[in-house]
Amino acid sequence: MSTIAIESSLQEDRLFSPPPNLSKTARIGSLEEYQRLHDRAVTDPEEFWGELAENELHWFQKWEKVLDWQPPYARWFVGGKLNVAYNCLDRHLTPERRDKPALIWEGEPGDTRILTYQQLHREVCEIANALKKLGVQKGDRVGIYLPMIPEAAIAMLACVRIGAIHSVVFGGFSAEALKDRLNDARAKIVITADGGWRKGAIVHLKHQVDVALADGGVPSVETVLVVKRTGQPIHFDPDRDRWWDDLQEEFADTDCPAEPMDAEDPIFILYTSGTTGKPKGVVHATGGYNLYTHITTKWAFDLQDTDIFWCTADVGWITGHSYIVYGPLSNGATTVMYEGAPSTANPGCLWDVVEKHRVTIFYTAPTAIRLFMKLGEEFPNARDLSSLRLLGSVGEPINPTAWMWYYRVIGGERCPIVDTWWQTETGGAMLTPLPGATPTKPGSATLPFPGIVADVVDLDGNPVGENEGGYLVVKQPWPSMIRTVYNNPDRYLSTYWDKIPPKDGQWFYFSGDGARRDKDGYFWVMGRVDDVINVAGHRLGTMEVESALVSHPAVTEAAVVGKPSDIKGEEIVAFVTLEADYTPSEDLEKDLKQHVVREIGALARPAAIQFTEALPKTRSGKIVRRILRALAAGEAVTGDTSTLEDRSVLDKLRG
Ligand code: WT7
Repeated sequence: MSTIAIESSLQEDRLFSPPPNLSKTARIGSLEEYQRLHDRAVTDPEEFWGELAENELHWFQKWEKVLDWQPPYARWFVGGKLNVAYNCLDRHLTPERRDKPALIWEGEPGDTRILTYQQLHREVCEIANALKKLGVQKGDRVGIYLPMIPEAAIAMLACVRIGAIHSVVFGGFSAEALKDRLNDARAKIVITADGGWRKGAIVHLKHQVDVALADGGVPSVETVLVVKRTGQPIHFDPDRDRWWDDLQEEFADTDCPAEPMDAEDPIFILYTSGTTGKPKGVVHATGGYNLYTHITTKWAFDLQDTDIFWCTADVGWITGHSYIVYGPLSNGATTVMYEGAPSTANPGCLWDVVEKHRVTIFYTAPTAIRLFMKLGEEFPNARDLSSLRLLGSVGEPINPTAWMWYYRVIGGERCPIVDTWWQTETGGAMLTPLPGATPTKPGSATLPFPGIVADVVDLDGNPVGENEGGYLVVKQPWPSMIRTVYNNPDRYLSTYWDKIPPKDGQWFYFSGDGARRDKDGYFWVMGRVDDVINVAGHRLGTMEVESALVSHPAVTEAAVVGKPSDIKGEEIVAFVTLEADYTPSEDLEKDLKQHVVREIGALARPAAIQFTEALPKTRSGKIVRRILRALAAGEAVTGDTSTLEDRSVLDKLRG
């Protein structure tokens, strides 16, 4: 049993009730109210979501039908027209709100920028106009490869304003990974920066773009738009590259009407790892995504007008899209963006930001919490964290010990914790407490958001019993569900809908996670059941790392597994067989790790590489990862090994 499984069964009966003073003013103030909402949403989803869409968003044209569900394809707010940038900016330009900070930005070197709604709106319009002048049209794809600077949010909103589809690529991805993603999306423009700050050093983003585009690497890209962030010298191609500042000045024209978009028009593509070597371009749709991220921000984080909301994710991930940019801004909230990252050299940096900007809602990942635990409580204790009223967790299961530490040390035993389970594909939080309503249990993401029909089932779609493990599925469509995999509609079917075949008209969205439900119906997510690993909250396909390894001339075969890690949750262990003229050595190990970093990015660097003469395989040639996982974790290999083609491999692997 894993640590989380043991810990969570011990903690199961620990209930933390919502603080009564919070429930009094909360958006959703009791479990009864949650239940009423949920029942209504499930009984009449069209009425429920239609009413919310009407009350919470601005529409240029009302829809004809709330939901058209032709399993497994959903269309939401059919015929409706809206613009997400309009909902995030223009509608907040009222006398009461236009001077409210929309974005508080804290740079790694300590520089700060605060943009009011009025100012953010202006910058977005300028860049939107610039994009149009550069030939970007509705439906065109724009690659965004930026550090955590305000321009990232501005670029995203500028695209959305004119109906261009952004594809944000996390700045930690390598030139190779960037190239694949830009090519798959056939991006017309890439928006990048000369460099970004990362733990005191410069990340050479523009250089990575140059490498990706070299020798016609990405034929679709016509222009590279470069933000000046670090000021270090870069290569500049006058025919292809343009400075962001120059364009902004040139098109300093705030008149840029928001394009009326069809509710089902794609809003963006975001690549995420799956079980093959090639990442999937998850496509989200305008109306449903806008509504669902809006309402989850409002209810799951109990967002109030006075809140200072800080989600520490990178905008390169879905969490950053939904809970730094679109959810908070659609609500007219103040959102915080931070360029830095906690490290042993700067162990108090996040708490400095909380204290400085009086952050009220703080949303981070378990891996970060475990790092802070290790760094020591003297750092948070030395700061004034009294502004905090609510904490959130996302990205991987949070072990109860980390939950309790977060609750006590960061939240001062006064802030509820919302452990939100969701995925790139779901767009927004699916299982989550509502802080004024749901009693929490450390380690459980508790109950579904109103309207989400989640379950734990076996491969035939039958619900499993109380506390039995099974597959976490969603049984009804929701507004921000993935619409398709870009360029690969078959993969949409095979990944999410074919794993558990529909039964009596009931379809099952397969999340790829294992879970159980306890006696109170609370969900306990146990982690991935497919060949996807979660390293420090980052999702990686084992096949992706394997293809990177086998692209090295020394490698014949590679098998990658996750190994439990105290801080990162999981880390990568690679088993590698070599070509005849190579021998295992420390240098080769280093070289292979570096090769993976070049192919994918530092986030995929294997923690260990084990050279082996052969890999354990079944007679049909399938690598038996279960065995490798046990070996990597230093556990005994249990279970049936009789299906192995060559059992001596096992002895060799054990050394
Ligand atoms: C996978 C999705 C969407 C947030 C960022 C990650 C794991 C996410 C939780 C949680 C247990 C979680 C799942 C999921 N996960 N949140 N609260 N408890 N596991 O997005 O990169 O698409 O990864 O992250 O395994 O499938 P992502």
